Amino acid sequence: MIPFERSKAVKVLDLGCGTGILSYLILVAFPNARVVAFDMAENMLAACSQNLSVYKNRLTLFQGNFGSDDFGGGYDIIVSGLSTHHLDDTEKPGLYKRIYDALNQGGVFINREVVLGESSSLTDRYHYLWREYIRSNGEDDEKWFNRYLDEDIPAPVEVQTNWLKEIGFIHVGYHWRYFNFAIFGGTKP
Ligand SMILES: C[S@@+](CC[C@H](N)C(=O)[O-])C[C@H]1O[C@@H](n2cnc3c(N)ncnc32)[C@H](O)[C@@H]1O
Repeated sequence: MIPFERSKAVKVLDLGCGTGILSYLILVAFPNARVVAFDMAENMLAACSQNLSVYKNRLTLFQGNFGSDDFGGGYDIIVSGLSTHHLDDTEKPGLYKRIYDALNQGGVFINREVVLGESSSLTDRYHYLWREYIRSNGEDDEKWFNRYLDEDIPAPVEVQTNWLKEIGFIHVGYHWRYFNFAIFGGTKP
């Protein structure tokens, strides 16, 4: 879904980079990309730095809170993975507007997120299947699910794509969906 030639020297921002999985995938796919890996957690940035040490010439680590801190501008690509759901629904549209402002014309935003269903009944079903999957991996689904309920504030994917359209993004869509997980985004005209 990234509409640039692989050889292009794209400037990329990974919001809530964690241990660096999305930064890694872009650095590999775009050999001339420069990535800013942004996260509030020092331990995550340390892990990201270690995991991506081979790419250190093209990687800049930045510690900050994307809800309030400046994350720069002039980006061709902004990605985020499982992170924007830490802001509530009064804050998410403001973040998406700041993402829009930080993109170059023709730049893309792609968000890989946990989302809610279109009704509470669908959400309940997705959660049931998710917990079943967690248990099938030998994990304690009660522990993980309670942590999710305490910490995460997902929103339905269509609510979020509507915010993107209202902000001015074009080519807005959800590119992939698997129950309560989705990849969605848009392009700055
Ligand atoms: C579940 S991890 C996902 C990491 C990685 N993007 C991935 O897809 O595997 C969420 C990350 O977002 C970061 N995070 C959460 N809220 C944040 C905020 N307001 N500002 C910056 N980073 C944030 C956390 O520190 C954590 O590293």
